[in-house]
Formats: sequence, structure tokens, C-alpha cells
Amino acid sequence: MLSQDDLGKLPNHYTIQHIRIEPNIILAPMAGVTDSIFRRMILRLSGCGLVSTEMTNAASVSPKALRRHHLLDFYPEERPLTMQLSGNDPDLVATAAHTVEQLGADIIDINCGCPSPKVTGGGHGASLLRDLPRMGQLLRAVRAAVQIPVTLKFRAGWDEQSLNFLDTAKLAEDSGVAAIALHPRTREQGYKGSADWSRVAAVKAAVRIPVIGSGDVRDAHDALVRLRDSGVDGVMIGRGAMENPWIFLQTAQMRRGEAPFQPTPADKFDFLLRYMAMCEEEMPARLALNKIKQLMGQFSVGFPGSAHLRVAVHQSQTTAEAREAIVAFFTPLVDHALV
Ligand SMILES: Cc1cc2nc3c(=O)[nH]c(=O)nc-3n(C[C@H](O)[C@H](O)[C@H](O)COP(=O)(O)O)c2cc1C
Repeated sequence: MLSQDDLGKLPNHYTIQHIRIEPNIILAPMAGVTDSIFRRMILRLSGCGLVSTEMTNAASVSPKALRRHHLLDFYPEERPLTMQLSGNDPDLVATAAHTVEQLGADIIDINCGCPSPKVTGGGHGASLLRDLPRMGQLLRAVRAAVQIPVTLKFRAGWDEQSLNFLDTAKLAEDSGVAAIALHPRTREQGYKGSADWSRVAAVKAAVRIPVIGSGDVRDAHDALVRLRDSGVDGVMIGRGAMENPWIFLQTAQMRRGEAPFQPTPADKFDFLLRYMAMCEEEMPARLALNKIKQLMGQFSVGFPGSAHLRVAVHQSQTTAEAREAIVAFFTPLVDHALV
């Protein structure tokens, strides 16, 4: 439980060098999800202090590749904005970081947590947890290449036998990294089991730079309890924001002692329709359909009859079909709420 006294003592901001992050509840980078559309949708609902691009391979940060994948596109309303890079070659990542700075990033984040074999196979992501000297080289090279702050997102270790989160945190601090975010699962765990926040608390106690915790925060109460119990500077929310994009607003309200906003079926319907409309307007139809399918996997969790909706959306061949399934599902719920 959170007392008034607890709420009063919780920090509500932190700074990454000169950049004030307020509130200190932020959106986790998620490949395939946190594109500019999703980030703008989240920011418009308010309560989120920082957003990040999806992870982008440093090798694909060239003008030609950027025009093709659009991973680093953004709108001015998205500030402060972190752009996240992955890579293994210090010089290549440093060059990409310089380009990203020119593109207008406020912060560059280096991914040392992605567990996907496609990523670790190339020595990127969590693979660097097995080669801390190289990670240090890479972080220092990036640091030297840019003026803007460099941050690191990492996991607790490659597996339970090689937990090195404290060493990684100290290495980052010694390499000039301005803040770190820990998802305290191992690479081997993937998303199984639960995020052990005692590891986040241990990192917070070990370094002086801001520490952000990431993992399994599913509601506003969770976010504030994690902030209180681990002593971290900030909390990052990923899947919880796909399931409930109002989670940031609700956390801000709960912190102020207000009753958190409870979205009605009409609010959820409206969110989905707006998200779909933006996807259809801003990206090719096939990609827009994939985006809607991906969001639906989490967004529909907990609705009565949602399994049926998920299946219908997943079987859709076009965005029009997906919209039809969504309209058919929500119309009775919205009509019912109006009578
Ligand atoms: C679909 C998906 C994509 C992700 N992509 C990234 C990514 O690009 N970069 C990254 O650092 N972490 C990525 N993550 C990890 C999240 O940022 C976060 O650390 C993790 O999901 C735990 O937080 P959560 O329980 O709040 O989702 C991804 C997670 C998911 C579910």
C-alpha cells in the first residue's frame, strides 16, 4: 500500500545531464511498437516523461536506409526523444551516433539487452554482456562522438550463471554514460519468469548516475511501488503501455492523490480507431495492418470476449477488415454504456 507520506516522498523527475525528465515514468523502447505514431498517441494522453525510438541497427543509419525504414522519424512534439542504437563495432556505432545527433535526437541509448538470436548472433544487444571490454570501448567511442547524453539499456546478465549487472552498471558510469536502464531478466530468460527488482535496487545503490527500472509494471500502483521500494530515479513501462496507454496518466493522478482515470469502452474504441487511422495515413497498408495486429495482442488483454476480437483482427487480410472486427466488437459495448 502507498500512504500519503510515501507519495509525498517519491521523486517525480530526474536529469540526464542537462535534460530534465519529468515525470519520471517513461515509455520503454519496443521494436515494432514504439514508432512515432505510438509515441504521439502515448504523449497526447499525458503523464509520460520520455519516449524512445525502436532499436535501430547502427549499420542501417545511412540516409538511404533511413528513407526506407523510417525508424528514426519523429515529430517536434515528441521531445525529449531518445534514439536507441544497437551494434558491436565501436567505430560504426560512434558514426551512427553522430548521425543520430544530427537528426535531432536529445539522447542516444545503446541497447545491450535485446535477447533475440537475430540480434545477439551479430554480437549486438545482450551479446555485449558477454564482452564487457568491448561494451566499454563501444560506449566510450559513442561518448566521444557526440555532445548529447548517452544512456545504456541492459539486462541482468547473459544467464543466471553470469549475472554481471553490477559490473555493467559501473562500467557504464566509468565510460561516461549519463543514465542507465536495467531490465533485470537475463538474456536466457527472454520474457519468462518475473523481473527481479532487487537487482534494480542493487544497481541504484552501486552507482551515482540515474537508474531506471524496467520490467513487469502493469498498473499505476505497481509503478509507484517500484519507485518507492527500489529507490530508482525512474520507471520504464513497455507492455503495460500497450495494454493500457492511460497507465502514465493514471500514475500521475495516483501520485497526486486523485482517483485514476478509468477508460470506458468508448475511450478504448476511440484510441484504436485513431491509432488505425494514423497508421493507415502514415504507412503502407501491409505495415499498418501488422501494427494493429501487434497492438491488439496486448491492448485487448482483460476485455470480456477479447480472445474472439484478437483472433478476428489477426485473421484480417486488410485494415478495413480489422476495423470491421473492432467496430463489431466495440459497438455493442459502447451502445450499452450509453443507455
Ligand atoms: C515487443 C517488444 C519489443 C521490444 N523492443 C525493445 C527494443 O527495441 N529495445 C529495448 O531496449 N528493449 C526492447 N524491449 C524490452 C522493453 O523495453 C522492456 O525492457 C521489457 O519489455 C520489460 O518491460 P515491460 O514488462 O514493461 O514490457 C521490447 C519488448 C517488447 C515486449
